Amino acid sequence: MLMDKKTADQLNEKLKGKSAAEILKFVSEEFRQKIRFASSMGVEDQVITHLIAENQLPVNVFTLDTGRMFPETYEVIDKTQARYNIKIFVYFPADQEVEKMVNEKGINLFYHSVENRKLCCGIRKIKPLKRALEGMDAWITGLRREQSPTRNDIQVVEWDEGNQLIKINPLLDWSEKQTWDFVKENKIPYNTLHDKGFPSIGCQPCTRAIMPGEDVRSGRWWWENPESKECGLHIKKK
Ligand code: ADX
Ligand code: SF4
Repeated sequence: MLMDKKTADQLNEKLKGKSAAEILKFVSEEFRQKIRFASSMGVEDQVITHLIAENQLPVNVFTLDTGRMFPETYEVIDKTQARYNIKIFVYFPADQEVEKMVNEKGINLFYHSVENRKLCCGIRKIKPLKRALEGMDAWITGLRREQSPTRNDIQVVEWDEGNQLIKINPLLDWSEKQTWDFVKENKIPYNTLHDKGFPSIGCQPCTRAIMPGEDVRSGRWWWENPESKECGLHIKKK
């Protein structure tokens, strides 16, 4: 299927006013097996996995294991597979690239410079993401507008220039409360770190708990300036 920004605009029109479940159903039919869902196993992603599984939508769920995740994150993978009887595909970074990087730059290279941090995210996340999305027409994410100023002006359907794919954000306009109410109501398994002050969970060395009232992403790459704090999975090229 030939797609571009116009395809995204047209889809946005069609999906106006639809619920997350309706959006997911629509795109799973529209992109017929050429669509995948990227789950970080965070609370938003768990809502999406729930909707995909409960409605038996033909959408594969995958997660990128950077090799530096929290033990709690691995537990959610297991619990989710058991609860919904689905397979969550796990993608790993290329072994030799990780070896070269850490042997040349240090095991915790990301703390030393933004350049090192981006190199690590590139090898451990961006490249495996590209592999996971090979041959696809579209991907689904759990982005919410409220999460960050950098996510303010995105739309439910975006043209992802970097990956040359359609990107769908079904939970874009959900509030934090709405997300948690849905999780509790449906007894959806979630990462126990969320109960310990971690609203946003990435790799263990690059994520810490936040204080009440702090920005939800302030615990991610907390030593960097806010402007550089996207790993590259969701950089918007204009
Ligand atoms: S990040 O860019 O800072 O890492 P964030 O943790 O807010 O992203 O997650 C936003 C969305 O990116 C998630 O809802 C999910 O769709 C995708 N994502 C982030 N990390 C991963 C991961 N490790 N594996 C798969 N998808 C991910
Ligand atoms: Fe590496 Fe940290 Fe990026 Fe994870 S979040 S890939 S450990 S720099």
